[in-house]
Amino acid sequence: MTTEHVAHSTIAPAWAIPGYLEARDGHLTINGADSLKLVRRFGSPLYVFSEPRVRENVARLVRAARVSDRPVRFCYASKANSNMAVLKAVLDAGIDIEVNSGGELYKALRVGFRPGQIIFNGTSKTDEELDDAVRAGILSVNVDSLYEIGLVAEAARRTGKRANVTLRLVPEISTRSHIGLQTALLTSKFGITHSEVQNAFRRALASPDLVNVAGIHIHVGSQTPDVEPFAEAFKAMWSHLVRLHRETGHALSHINLGGGIPVNYLRDRSQADQLPEAEREMLGASLDPSEILGAVMRAARESARDAEAEHLLDQVTFLFEPGRSVVGDAGVVLTTVRNIKRRPETGDVWLLTDAGFNLLLSMTTYSWYYQLVSASRADSPHATPYKVAGPLCDSGDVYFDIEGEGRLPDYRNLPAEVEPGELLALLNSGAYSLAQAFPYNGRPLPAVAIVRDGGRADLARKRDTYEDLLAGDVW
Ligand SMILES: Cc1ncc(COP(=O)(O)O)c(C=O)c1O
Repeated sequence: MTTEHVAHSTIAPAWAIPGYLEARDGHLTINGADSLKLVRRFGSPLYVFSEPRVRENVARLVRAARVSDRPVRFCYASKANSNMAVLKAVLDAGIDIEVNSGGELYKALRVGFRPGQIIFNGTSKTDEELDDAVRAGILSVNVDSLYEIGLVAEAARRTGKRANVTLRLVPEISTRSHIGLQTALLTSKFGITHSEVQNAFRRALASPDLVNVAGIHIHVGSQTPDVEPFAEAFKAMWSHLVRLHRETGHALSHINLGGGIPVNYLRDRSQADQLPEAEREMLGASLDPSEILGAVMRAARESARDAEAEHLLDQVTFLFEPGRSVVGDAGVVLTTVRNIKRRPETGDVWLLTDAGFNLLLSMTTYSWYYQLVSASRADSPHATPYKVAGPLCDSGDVYFDIEGEGRLPDYRNLPAEVEPGELLALLNSGAYSLAQAFPYNGRPLPAVAIVRDGGRADLARKRDTYEDLLAGDVW
């Protein structure tokens, strides 16, 4: 670790979030917990999640719902982070949950969500998963195809329970997010198309003793930087809801607008101009959820002009499935510089850390930009460029642009004279990080710490051991 002594800046770094993410006495602190002490206690690399920040993010969503004339329910998309301590924080914060597999359903029930709080999405559910969901009596199984309606009806017959179902639609609604995160395109694998919807409703309504047709669903994608796609999604669903009522007399009880509320990954914009404009706008989206809900409610009021429509709207609850916006900025990955090389030919200084894309998969799949700061010298000027890379045996395991795509900066700026032993932090890494981690190269998964009010930290996941690497193997 560097022994250089720097005068601590009195100006908060641009990435700081008062009371949560701060530089104190030079160190990065998380709700007051010193990141260097956390690593001494739990090891490096380390995922750190903030319970108070999760609570605040949920409170922000709940506040946003005040713009709505209709009831609103938020079902946390647990795919974003299903660590049990995080799920408990979400449960305690008072919202509901969305799951995408039997495993996530199991975790949701184990942590204490009631079945009536759970929505089950997914393109490829197994009979066992459907049986578990229907037997439990969850709020809704979101059906992804015409074929799956039959599967749910069979699960209802097998379990002797009536299934609540919602039809997931795939209209053609594009967003300004990464193409891999857009899910309302006809080229995507999700949902039931416009031309199939009425047939799908008829099929689902054909077995009222087995299937309760409760709602309609569109998820336009993740990290959606504009309000318009949400309003468009509402309108698409509304036209089907009205038509269904006219043709069959059936009124739906909920409209599900999915997830996608964005996180601002560029609070610190010091390297933002090194990103392409579209990427910058997507990553730097600072939409308040109330703007999204406001746009949806305006679309709803405009749509429900006559008495019949007003009556239909009066029966509807709005559901949202926020994942990223609940946990994205509530997590940090702490990683230690383990090695350094100075390349005479290029003049580059390479810092080799202990956190690779096996801990933050989207760094490689989507070239996702996570702000990198020195946790050891959090308030020092970050103006020296480095090539920073993880420990995996892949040339793609780097924190900079490698494919000439220009989607990441060519260098990462950190304080001068970084040496092995310095602790770095990848900020805004609470969503789709631990949930997608894997023990590639025989690297045991790291520990997880959850920080509470007042900086108290608890272990939220034990570091895997070498024995854990063998746990499922048979030889
Ligand atoms: C169906 C569904 N709902 C909700 C989400 C959560 O999205 P986000 O984390 O962007 O809020 C996802 C993830 O893409 C999803 O597939």
